Amino acid sequence: MSEKTILKLQLPTDPLWVKNVVESNIEELLTDHAYCEQKAATNAITLIIQNPNLSDVVQEMIALAQEEMEHFKRVHEILLQRGFTLGKERKDNYVNELRKFIIIGGGREAQLIDRLLFSAMIEARSCERFKVLSENINDEALAAFYHELMVSEATHYAMFLRLAKKHAVEIDVDARWKAFLAYEAQVIQNYGKGETIHG
Ligand SMILES: [Fe+2]
Ligand SMILES: [Fe+2]
Repeated sequence: MSEKTILKLQLPTDPLWVKNVVESNIEELLTDHAYCEQKAATNAITLIIQNPNLSDVVQEMIALAQEEMEHFKRVHEILLQRGFTLGKERKDNYVNELRKFIIIGGGREAQLIDRLLFSAMIEARSCERFKVLSENINDEALAAFYHELMVSEATHYAMFLRLAKKHAVEIDVDARWKAFLAYEAQVIQNYGKGETIHG
């Protein structure tokens, strides 16, 4: 089974994104990437604050926040090794557009399931981007690093989907996930042009 089949993403990233865009500005890629890891950790902490009564969610999110901050640390170390300094936080327009799909004002279940699926979606696309990076970037150390992170993000994606299915009572998670995938496919059409992880 290919990664695309596993992740069910509808639009694959063109590998030319790496050659034509990313390789011209590795510093920008790494700074943006560091903040992606920070945002993933922040999102895990938000899920803890929103769901203190769901002990399994709290446990999984503690572990995730720690792992994402470890990723952040490693990206930061790579920046330093290459003589760069972490730049200012980059806006992630892709994630901001995805966030608009989350139902506002639904019940607790709808809020939780959408937040979990939104998180799964970002992990899935990040995993796909890391795969494209690892296979195309002309830099052995970064290729190996991105391969390793691709595997982590695939695990996170699966964990978020599993939690969504576990905590859904009335919501049809498969149907909602399909709707998310269709929405994401529309959003991502406008990307693949910037030297950022979701750019
Ligand atoms: Fe990560
Ligand atoms: Fe992750």
